[in-house]
Amino acid sequence: MKYNVTVNADQQKAVISRHIYGQFSEHLGRGIYEGLWVGEESEVPNTNGIRTDVLEALRALNIPVLRWPGGCFADEYHWKDGIGPREERKRMVNTHWGGVVENNHFGTHEFLLLCEMLGTEPYICGNVGSGSVQEMSEWMEYMTFDGKSPMTDLRRENGRRDPWHVTYFGVGNENWGCGGHMRPEFYADLYRQYQTYVREYGDNKLYKIAGGANVDDYRWTEVLMREAAPFMDGLSLHYYTIPGDFWEGKGSALDFDKTEWDLTMQHALHMDTLISRHRAIMDSWDPEEKVGLIVDEWGTWFDPEPGTTPGFLYQQNTIRDAVAAGVTLNIFNQHASRVHMANIAQMVNVLQAMVHTDKDNMFLTPTYHVFHMYQVHQDAALLPLHIDAGQDGAARMYPQIHGSASRRDDGRVHISLCNLDAEEAAHITLDTRGLTDGLSWKGTILSADHKDAHNTFDDPEHVRPEAFHDFKTDGRTAELRLPPMSVVVLALS
Ligand code: AHR
Repeated sequence: MKYNVTVNADQQKAVISRHIYGQFSEHLGRGIYEGLWVGEESEVPNTNGIRTDVLEALRALNIPVLRWPGGCFADEYHWKDGIGPREERKRMVNTHWGGVVENNHFGTHEFLLLCEMLGTEPYICGNVGSGSVQEMSEWMEYMTFDGKSPMTDLRRENGRRDPWHVTYFGVGNENWGCGGHMRPEFYADLYRQYQTYVREYGDNKLYKIAGGANVDDYRWTEVLMREAAPFMDGLSLHYYTIPGDFWEGKGSALDFDKTEWDLTMQHALHMDTLISRHRAIMDSWDPEEKVGLIVDEWGTWFDPEPGTTPGFLYQQNTIRDAVAAGVTLNIFNQHASRVHMANIAQMVNVLQAMVHTDKDNMFLTPTYHVFHMYQVHQDAALLPLHIDAGQDGAARMYPQIHGSASRRDDGRVHISLCNLDAEEAAHITLDTRGLTDGLSWKGTILSADHKDAHNTFDDPEHVRPEAFHDFKTDGRTAELRLPPMSVVVLALS
């Protein structure tokens, strides 16, 4: 089909927070243990216990923020079990995720060191469901206080003299579900209480995030904003793209038909409706958009790969995941004035991961490549982008193309476009009005011949970005052909 796309380069909007390109890593399956942490004694090459290959791959993504330790795990996690000499650390049962024994070898020090090595800001999720106010308060003191106190003495005994900087702190996770099965009225009061004792020490300024709604639970957002908005900097939202049914069968990550492809695209696009409706409620309580909407869990969620431990949530990752990621990141960009952060679930070996590992092997997923291509939008100014699909577009089940655009401080403009159709190419006339003529255009494309195309340990580069040449430009306008199931990022300078 043919489309006219206009980028209004003279109408700069909100800045796209780099934190939209955040990640999430939970004590779940092989996400932390094996995927990140192998320990200093491991035969897998590592830096301070973190596997070096994964570290290097993740560094190339410029990850702005990393959420930890959960997820559902956060509301069962007692941080003091994860400090001190590793061999003496208390063990616990990870009841949510496979009932395995957690040895607590990856704790506060290891996580904050990982963040330092990645150049990433930590986002810590505290325990409301089964933890105390004192426990949460002491965690912040342990990490960020610089004076003399019982918690700082303990931190120094454990080998860290200086405090860390921790800006982002979540007060519980999914408190409507695994985080305590609470009603919003009850959680709003608990939130007000717990956050009171999460203190700012010295120059460590906090951004406090309240546990938000599940998908379309608009009442949760209404109550939290009504009862607690002045006490929060951010309110979270969780939404996963699932072609099937959460309980009855989500669908296979690899073995799917055209209908499941279409449902995946439609459900990924639903993020736009959810954000629009939640932000409309937030607008009525907070018209100045001070409170950020923090989509701190999102991504595709399929049935676990056959033969793997079901509670480990390991799934393959295809070009379908890549297109869904591109669409979702475009949606976040478009809502930049309210969406201050987002964290894809999850960084390594779990759900829509960036990297898969097996012993000392690893490969990058198609989703990794989308994050790599889209990092140009981090902290750039959003530019309005309009897609005109003409009369034929109205007959489609869902839009075929989807995009967003931004301008960096140095003037470079980036346009990301996705073709969501698994079979049909899109022909686009692109007008970048407001830009001067004679710009140089470069493009990168991620695409595939089959809708289940994916990478493996034997064929790690089956799906990988390539230079995009299928366009003609006079410097300000261009004619492009986007092949089916593709993600393209254009750079104009
Ligand atoms: O990301 C997996 C799980 O999904 C998280 O632990 C939980 O918060 C959500 O339900």
